[in-house]
Amino acid sequence: MNEIKIFSPATVANVSCGFDVLGFCLDSIGDEMVIRKTDKKGIFITKIEGYDLPYEAEKNVAGVSALALMEDAKPDCGFEIEIYKKIKPGSGVGSSSASAAGSVYAINELLGRPYDKTQLTHFAMKGEALASGSEHADNIAPAIFGGFTLVKSCTPLKVLEIPTPSSLYATIIHPEIEIKTSEARAILPKDINLQNAITQWANVGSLVHAMHTDDYALLSESLNDVIVEPHRSQLIPHFDSVKSESLKAGALGCGISGSGPSIFTLSKGKDIAELVAEAMKTAYSSTGINFNIYVSKINTQGMQVI
Ligand code: HSE
Repeated sequence: MNEIKIFSPATVANVSCGFDVLGFCLDSIGDEMVIRKTDKKGIFITKIEGYDLPYEAEKNVAGVSALALMEDAKPDCGFEIEIYKKIKPGSGVGSSSASAAGSVYAINELLGRPYDKTQLTHFAMKGEALASGSEHADNIAPAIFGGFTLVKSCTPLKVLEIPTPSSLYATIIHPEIEIKTSEARAILPKDINLQNAITQWANVGSLVHAMHTDDYALLSESLNDVIVEPHRSQLIPHFDSVKSESLKAGALGCGISGSGPSIFTLSKGKDIAELVAEAMKTAYSSTGINFNIYVSKINTQGMQVI
């Protein structure tokens, strides 16, 4: 095989209480990429459609992660990358991770799969670091593994796959403003209150337990972030009204997707997820800010060859 086309999915990081460790994979939003082997060694980005991003491999997240893989694999060939970017950069649903993870996933396929998913996550983190200024894997891991993931540690990298309750759907609203991850990280406090830390790690533990036991009521109680959301929600216009209207419409929980501005909810069943989409639309339509809304099943497969 000399060429491959893949779907590289959008993802939701943090999932309220799990800042930098939890994430899940979406199935209705994502980029497409075409990767092809070349005789000439190196990484060559030959086409980018959708958004204006750098072509130099060293400056492009897909290029940086691919170069990290190449440095380790030292293959006797190079690769051309075409990126059909559908996920808007800075939207909060893992745009840079989709590029960073997509290139290494596709190259690994073309090389006959020498690396496992954890190793691919490690290479992709190098690209993510270029975009966000820090190496974290809470978007990359769900893009590569699918479903819900928990990054137990980055050094050494250890990713845990968490079971997805089968009726779980996400509704995402993307207000068309840009929030840079590096800026959303810079406003966070360096020290946190012990009582808040206790609440937060109890929520992470109970959320993971809820996923293992299909306990939607416990899942709902656990989707609560007392550490990051109070700071970042100020960057997202009308966050509080979207949250309260979504919960009234039946969502199990609502929070900031990654570093924002997208807002995610989780619901039991597609019908409720669509009612939540309507409630979000009503809450946002008088704000004067353009927005998109998506309803998505949780994508338990992750990357797909198309
Ligand atoms: N965990 C990261 C953050 C996700 O919230 O800053 C965005 O890269």
